[in-house]
Amino acid sequence: MSHPAVLETERYVTKLHAGDHTGHDMAHLDRVRRLAMHLAEGEAVDGLALTLAALLHDVEDEKLGRDKGLVARHLDTLPIDPEQRAHVLRMIEESSFSKGRSPSSRESAILQDADRLDAIGAIGIARTFQFAGARGNSLHGEGDPKSAIAHFEEKLLRLANQMHTKRARRIARERHAFMVSFLDRFEAEWTGQDI
Ligand code: ADP
Ligand code: NI
Repeated sequence: MSHPAVLETERYVTKLHAGDHTGHDMAHLDRVRRLAMHLAEGEAVDGLALTLAALLHDVEDEKLGRDKGLVARHLDTLPIDPEQRAHVLRMIEESSFSKGRSPSSRESAILQDADRLDAIGAIGIARTFQFAGARGNSLHGEGDPKSAIAHFEEKLLRLANQMHTKRARRIARERHAFMVSFLDRFEAEWTGQDI
């Protein structure tokens, strides 16, 4: 049986992320949570704080334009310790790729790894094109820094080298190789080299 704070948070994010088509849907949160639990297996981590942070990590994503303070206000309604509340907030703050923060706890390192694993591989490719479609960005284009393909160089191809845990590094290696082979194939078809 799940902790009441987890049940309450599942309800909260299910409502908040409903209808998202930018790669931040409930399925992303479920995968990040599952990946995080897998990476944490056998380690003495705060599983409750990690689960809450995994579920809440994209609530205030600036790309989604939501209020600052939403997560803090939600955490105030939960039956958790003040230290856990602070830990969850810190993990979420540190999970942001654009802020480039180093994780200050093992749980935070695991959350970064889990979120970044979901941005690479087949799912990462799919989310990238979904995001580009939702924003009206192009597929690929000479010198178009906002194209979906440009996002691979800008961010996705760098992630495999930034994993903190051994398990994530192993998973990332395979996902990275798949992206590289997808990009080779894309380039070949785009330029007509395969015809
Ligand atoms: P995360 O959930 O890992 O914090 P982001 O909020 O950065 O991810 O973005 C959500 C998804 O959209 C990710 O798969 C990411 O790679 C993709 N994405 C983010 N920015 C862009 C962009 N400019 N073009 C294409 N895809 C993007
Ligand atoms: Ni995320």
